[in-house]
Amino acid sequence: MAHPSDAFCAYQPAEPCAIAIFGATGDLAHRKLIPALFDLMHQKLLPPHFFLVGTGRNPTDDASFRQEVEKLLKAAGKDKLDPGIWDAFIQSCYFAGGDYAVPAFYRQLARRLAELEGKHQTLGNRIFHLAIPSALYSQVVQQLGAAGMIQKSSAAQTPWTRVIVEKPLGRDLESAKQLNQALHKVLRENQIYRIDHYLGKETVQNLLILRFANAIFEPIWNRSYVDHVQITVAETLGVEHRAGYYDQTGALRDMFQSHLLTLLSLLAMEPPAEFECHSIRDEEVEVMRAIRPIPLERLSENAVRGQYCVGKLDGAAVPGYREEEKIPIDSKTETFAAIKLFIDNWRWQDVPFYLRSGKRLAQPVTEVVIQFKPVPHSMFRGLPPELLNPNRLILRIQPEEGICLSFEAKSPGPKLCMSSVALDFNYLRTFGIKPPGAYEHLLLECMLGDQTLFAHESWIEISWGLLTPLLQRWAKDPSPAVSPYEAGSWGPKEAERLIEQDGRRWNI
Ligand code: BG6
Repeated sequence: MAHPSDAFCAYQPAEPCAIAIFGATGDLAHRKLIPALFDLMHQKLLPPHFFLVGTGRNPTDDASFRQEVEKLLKAAGKDKLDPGIWDAFIQSCYFAGGDYAVPAFYRQLARRLAELEGKHQTLGNRIFHLAIPSALYSQVVQQLGAAGMIQKSSAAQTPWTRVIVEKPLGRDLESAKQLNQALHKVLRENQIYRIDHYLGKETVQNLLILRFANAIFEPIWNRSYVDHVQITVAETLGVEHRAGYYDQTGALRDMFQSHLLTLLSLLAMEPPAEFECHSIRDEEVEVMRAIRPIPLERLSENAVRGQYCVGKLDGAAVPGYREEEKIPIDSKTETFAAIKLFIDNWRWQDVPFYLRSGKRLAQPVTEVVIQFKPVPHSMFRGLPPELLNPNRLILRIQPEEGICLSFEAKSPGPKLCMSSVALDFNYLRTFGIKPPGAYEHLLLECMLGDQTLFAHESWIEISWGLLTPLLQRWAKDPSPAVSPYEAGSWGPKEAERLIEQDGRRWNI
């Protein structure tokens, strides 16, 4: 049935443009970016005047790159879709190989882009997507600038040039600031699209709809009604083939600085005046500024780090982190972290936010739990308020996407017995489809020039400012040590203690 908001749902078509993917033969481009662009073309959301240039160090030509694209799309199950679209997509893929450190590569790329822009009539609008290690970002943007492919411009200027960068954007506050400065030497903030793919997830965006398109939640979304908030991002995956990156990074940098703090900002921010980039990003930054520094003098009460050791997942034995390929046998990198945060503002004073994330945990689940305060008084004789389960609103980000509100109900029978029951919204059951991938959404938003779902430089620096003291303390002080946990469990027992010391429990 038509909904009054339907008129707002239609996408305006993106303007003609070219996308140059740096790292086009890498994992991110293969698994996410190229399939997402294909899906956009399939849904007729790509502009008709469009082409993609892959770049990389391999001496690949257009024909071999196209074969590679066909192979990865087939592997992603896309070849059963419309053959016309298939051909059009493959024919719009090109490759320009070379060494990112060498200026001649950029001159060659500039010539190639100009020639293809004539052929595809993309009007000179360009996106450079840097799907390469972030240590190369400064060098690449500086060279793109030197070769005249990017220069500072305002949001209204045409043709436009936009640069997409992927996390991790730095490894501490200092390096994040340096990276922002390097980007700003050649780009204005309106041209920089910092991806946290969590912001592209439908169920993450649904957080904003839940909070601000419904009148019943906002009045109770504060310290008077909320007892505490839990954010869990649990993965069953281990380090996989990313040992080099992961061992230098760890869970706090890999997951907390971006995904968990993004979820926290959306949950805790004040209502923006408009669903518009500046209003939303200002509120996200504002709430980040209010997060209390983590008290390092009472660290074990506020932060826990862990590392998985051998265990079982789905009945199969899995190795410990230190036994994984290319991981040093004495690595102290955390594959799990849990922290307790407070937000010092009028709305959230004294409400704890418990955040945890880890690899090789028992179940893949990302969820937010808003636990409300218990009833102030129980009218049921012999049943003190603490025996009545407090209401919980559970936002299931993935999998089993949906929202669930638990409440107490009378169980059938003559006696006054109670059970906890749930009002349950399941995304798949309701809409009949799985939520679309995050990258489709983000790439399209970038083509449309909308930065709402991308992080602002201040947000990045504040998030690193919050975590850097903890990272430094963990790096230099072995105590409290990295706690081992069995693969397939819910993390180290210290993480249970972190929340149980406050008389609370993790939802799962
Ligand atoms: C990435 C991290 O940003 O997010 C990975 O680098 C992690 O380590 C991944 O596995 C999780 O993303 P998702 O979408 O599977 O929750």
